[in-house]
Amino acid sequence: MSGNTTGVLFRVTTWGESHGPALGAVIDGCPPLMELAAADIQTELERRKPGQAKASSPRKEGDRVEILAGIFEGKTTGTPISLIIWNRDVRSGDYDALRNVFRPGHGDYTYVQKYSIRDHRGGGRASGRETAARVAAGAVARKILAREGIMVRAYTLALGGVRAETGIIAEARQNRFNCPDPVAAVKMEAALKKAQKAGDTLGGIVEIIVQGCPAGLGAPVFDKLDADLAKALMGVGTVKGVEIGPGFAAAGMTGSQCNDPLLPSGFAANHAGGILAGIASGQDLVIRAACKPIPSVAREQDTVDVNGKPVKLTIGGRHDVSVIPRILPVCEAMVCLVLVDHLLRQRAIVGFLSG
Ligand SMILES: Cc1cc2nc3c(=O)[nH]c(=O)nc-3n(C[C@H](O)[C@H](O)[C@H](O)COP(=O)(O)O)c2cc1C
Repeated sequence: MSGNTTGVLFRVTTWGESHGPALGAVIDGCPPLMELAAADIQTELERRKPGQAKASSPRKEGDRVEILAGIFEGKTTGTPISLIIWNRDVRSGDYDALRNVFRPGHGDYTYVQKYSIRDHRGGGRASGRETAARVAAGAVARKILAREGIMVRAYTLALGGVRAETGIIAEARQNRFNCPDPVAAVKMEAALKKAQKAGDTLGGIVEIIVQGCPAGLGAPVFDKLDADLAKALMGVGTVKGVEIGPGFAAAGMTGSQCNDPLLPSGFAANHAGGILAGIASGQDLVIRAACKPIPSVAREQDTVDVNGKPVKLTIGGRHDVSVIPRILPVCEAMVCLVLVDHLLRQRAIVGFLSG
């Protein structure tokens, strides 16, 4: 009922609020005997944390992860893995002005509609900070995938209306947006600075490519691989659209353009984005997530207080100008969680058939 747990065989629960003492994740279903250290998780958390660039929030979220359970002598035991990240550099006072006011575009209004109570400090569970727990759990999933030769990487395809025109993945590591088009990356940086100066925020598009995904993953009909990937990514704050392969553009193609011819050597194209009928085809998975602009803008906005009285609101505090690039490791983590879950589910079927 509560929606804080995801997965069937690889089950992840995240817990904690932005301004509580800590947040974390519990992973149930991780196979035993895999080497796992806090450092494996820390690397991914470093990629998500704020304060790495001027246009990202200047908050200094320490993001030190501790493994509390599920490991013995450096290896997973098959029992629940519990991860904790303490909340440091919390300035709850920054949110005092928001205690009785609803921020446009954020979860303030809807959380009260649902629960009749809300932790206004930092957005509570609706905070981008909750994604630290997802990234921590995703790092464990990523380790499992790496053993299987499956690689998940996210790139910035667009930011504030600037779109990458070239797709040379090797170029992506050269800039902080992980954008494969270096010229677009420079324009993205300029767009971010301009928006920040204007007290505004920007949205963008993340593309996630999965290499080495084995054919057969996905559980039709309700847990099709594309359906589970879309759900996982839409569960991240600011994600408002998910595409697989050409996505919405497929609606404007003819069948003969959209179909991927099958040759004895394999598929001649990948318009399917690596998924047919909800099952991985063995080609690369191509997934995109559209992210809206950050709701907390430093410009005056019309809103109401908890009593419905009109308020002119200008939000202070330390906010990101865009979720890009911080959301890249979050998207990767969500895709890793889905893939591991389906990998284990597929192994259960195959193991049964051959056993
Ligand atoms: C990594 C990350 C960082 C975020 N940082 C902020 C922030 O600094 N300020 C803010 O208002 N929203 C931030 N958000 C966005 C809100 O969490 C999100 O917009 C809010 O929960 C409303 O949900 P919705 O956008 O899905 O409708 C962030 C989201 C993510 C994923």
